[in-house]
Amino acid sequence: MHDKNNDLPWFDLCTTEVYTNPYPTFEKMREHRVCRINKDRFYALTRFEDCKEALRNYENFSSTSYTSFLYPDWVPEICRSDLFMLSEDPPEHTVHRNILRQAFGRSAIERLREIVAPVATSLVADIQPDVPINLVEKFTLPFVGTAVAEMMGTNGLQNYEAIKKWLTILEKISTTRPSDEELEALTVIAHEQRELFKTILAERKRVPTDDIPGQLVAAEVDGKHLSDEEFFSALELLARAGFETTLHAISHAIMELAERPPLLASIVEDHSLIPKFVDELLRYQVTGPCIFRMTRKPVEVGDITIPANSRVAVLVGSANRDSDQFENAEAFDIYRPNNANSISFGFGVHKCIGSALGKMELCVALETLFSRFRRVTVHNINWCPTYMVRGVHDLHATFTE
Ligand code: HEM
Repeated sequence: MHDKNNDLPWFDLCTTEVYTNPYPTFEKMREHRVCRINKDRFYALTRFEDCKEALRNYENFSSTSYTSFLYPDWVPEICRSDLFMLSEDPPEHTVHRNILRQAFGRSAIERLREIVAPVATSLVADIQPDVPINLVEKFTLPFVGTAVAEMMGTNGLQNYEAIKKWLTILEKISTTRPSDEELEALTVIAHEQRELFKTILAERKRVPTDDIPGQLVAAEVDGKHLSDEEFFSALELLARAGFETTLHAISHAIMELAERPPLLASIVEDHSLIPKFVDELLRYQVTGPCIFRMTRKPVEVGDITIPANSRVAVLVGSANRDSDQFENAEAFDIYRPNNANSISFGFGVHKCIGSALGKMELCVALETLFSRFRRVTVHNINWCPTYMVRGVHDLHATFTE
């Protein structure tokens, strides 16, 4: 019998054109309910409703193979976290998510705001007006790196800088194959970071605290606490999930505002527009355009049956530009009534647990930058060379008071 799957169109997403601007390719992909990417390696879903359904239906689309998508062979063993609940399905996922939820209350976010806001203020004070800077180096990396390091409870520990170093290198290797020397350096740093996590754990066991690691140690579900390995894995997930996403989202915010001086002028005058801007930004520019799943059984999508054990890329970056869901989807409109309904934070049981935290960091960054500066010009962008992360390694820009 003729297998329709052999006729599915495939799209090459590993091109500089796509890294720079994937949206024209996503538009072509949305003409098909199911297609394939990168020479038949994955099936891909591109339309809003199909992507949302795949994220909702963990019985058909499992997360358990997540790490197999993330780690190419050359990533050293010590850097291969199992990513805790991100690579689990219910019921295991539910137990771990409930533990993390206990550590992620509103008070944790408010406490972090009090810590990161002065960091943003001091970094912005160091930016020279009318002098080009690499914003990633001068602002986003230290700002988000500090937020993550604080979230992980490294405050006051001597090797506070180690986490930032570790995250910076991890961020690089997730998008580019490093040199052998860099890989060696990464292994050393990953070991140092594990020692740091052990110190954090030992301290929280000795003296209970109400920060996130302290709450992870104390958390109990059905009379069970996290094992030491689970504690490390939870901290690694938080650090990694919270770092790259927010880092790149801040760069996107600056790029979009640089292209829209009237919108920036409105935001400079009225900071209450920032949360609306952030919601539309997250719809319009997704930092993780691709969420991976594996089919547990044959799954029908329209007239195509995706076989069991197939790798499926759920292209949320495309879904958020689906005009069946968002009218005039290619336009950037902060007054769009449903921009908060995008699936940038995922959907269903894995929906981002740090969404409020990520939005808070974005708002603090923008409020601080645009309390001092009124204009920004972008000169040069060095995009991450991967379709899995939509972000920049460098963003050269000039701010004007
Ligand atoms: C703009 C910023 C962010 C974006 C766009 C984002 C996006 C996402 C997405 C799409 C998922 C779902 C993954 C999936 O279904 O497989 C997710 C999950 C997750 N995010 Fe975020 N995230 C952001 C910020 C953060 C922050 C600041 C944290 C905090 C530490 C965080 C922690 C997590 C965790 C722990 C999960 C796993 C949830 C689970 O498996 O149940 N994220 N995020």
